[in-house]
Amino acid sequence: MHELDIVILAAGKGTRMRSQTPKVLHTLAGKPMVQHVLDTASTLHPDRTHVVIGHGAEQLRVALAENSVQFAVQAEQKGTGHAVAQALEQLGTGKVLILYGDVPLLKRESLVELLAHVDEQHMGLLTVTLDDPSGYGRIVRNDAGNAVAIIEQKDATSTQLAIKECNTGIMAMTSAQLKRWLPQLSSENAQGEYYLTDVIAMAAEEGIKVRTTQPFSAVEVEGVNNRAQMARLERAYQLKLADKLMDQGVALADPARLDIRGRLVCGHDVFIDVGCVFEGDVELGEGVRIGPYCVIKNSKIGAESVIDTHSVIDGTVAAGFNQIGPFARLRPGTRLAVKAKVGNFVETKNAEVGEGSKINHLSYVGDAHLGRDVNVGAGTITCNYDGANKHRTEICDQAFIGSNTALVAPVTIGKGATIGAGSTIAKDVADYALAVTRSRQLEKIDWQRPSKRTEQ
Ligand code: UD1
Ligand code: MG
Repeated sequence: MHELDIVILAAGKGTRMRSQTPKVLHTLAGKPMVQHVLDTASTLHPDRTHVVIGHGAEQLRVALAENSVQFAVQAEQKGTGHAVAQALEQLGTGKVLILYGDVPLLKRESLVELLAHVDEQHMGLLTVTLDDPSGYGRIVRNDAGNAVAIIEQKDATSTQLAIKECNTGIMAMTSAQLKRWLPQLSSENAQGEYYLTDVIAMAAEEGIKVRTTQPFSAVEVEGVNNRAQMARLERAYQLKLADKLMDQGVALADPARLDIRGRLVCGHDVFIDVGCVFEGDVELGEGVRIGPYCVIKNSKIGAESVIDTHSVIDGTVAAGFNQIGPFARLRPGTRLAVKAKVGNFVETKNAEVGEGSKINHLSYVGDAHLGRDVNVGAGTITCNYDGANKHRTEICDQAFIGSNTALVAPVTIGKGATIGAGSTIAKDVADYALAVTRSRQLEKIDWQRPSKRTEQ
């Protein structure tokens, strides 16, 4: 039986989140919870994936537009069984796996094991044993030890409440079994809902064996109902990522103060100080050192570079041996050649900075190309925008730009040229020339400052 349908329940409101955003769209590590579930689901290569939507249905359709999924609308939330029933007509003839959109950390391995147990005579149920089972459905077993029913907390007797083995909600069965059982569900229970969990008793009655498996760790099956649980799962997830990095040879000042919202790949002997956030795809070469409180997004930082505290780097490629920050802001399109330096309070955008060139302090360099060994003095601005269009600045090898220079683009500064401090350069400067546009300094010897008139 190779065909596989996956049904993800995501129609609930998530009242306890107290949010305008549907619960399953709240992000964990920068990604909506339900997207985590979809990404794990896709590793099982299902024939179809169905997402049951209800609350915030339109927002979900938009947020999940990039996934190849079929939506099933549950207009009214009448319980988990009713939710799965909305997707019933779309199911194939093989196995069906049921997942929850608010259980984001589930692992592929746990699901593979669960599915392996399913055939005409067996179904699979993922259970977890918890010290505090409150809120969960309890697994009732018969004398032979077989699971024969799930009793919801609100319907349970005091003996049943003492059971610590809980329903994770995740189960797998054949499509035929599901199509037999779902129409038989009744809502005669404490919550007046159609419980998916009642299919366990139906299986037992038919003599179909419920094979239970456990996840590798309990955190995998933890669901999110409120913001505190959300924050806890986020930290659990981040700590795992931190552990993995340390295993790979990365030194972390504090694994509890690191946030990766995407993919971070590191070479050996990378050091990351506290409070750093990595977003999208980031690569750090061997020996890179990142100071405290940096934000790095979709960038590649070459080996042996040092990024000082409070730098914000986005869409940048640094070749290696670079010195960046403190307080540098590198925007998309920044390309640093080997040994280029970008210092404090410098903003760059669409800027190629040649080997060994330096922009050490308080500058804006945008839509520019700098050759090798260029020195850009403090307070230099590339005036790249005329109010309508962007223009480029070209600064050739070994040019020296004096402090507080305005380079009015489009403009080219020749090789080895020197710009006097305080100049506004609106015309090209020849190779090895000196250009200064500030007025000459006037000096009056023994100049007497005006003094205050004294009243008679
Ligand atoms: C459910 C299980 C319980 C289990 C627990 C694990 C049932 C009856 N109970 O209880 O045994 O221990 O999960 O967390 O299944 N949903 C819909 N439509 C609905 C109702 C729910 O899409 O009409 C979705 C929710 O968005 C959520 C999931 O199903 O993703 C679970 O619903 P929830 O109300 O949280 O069920 P629990 O009461 O927690
Ligand atoms: Mg729940």
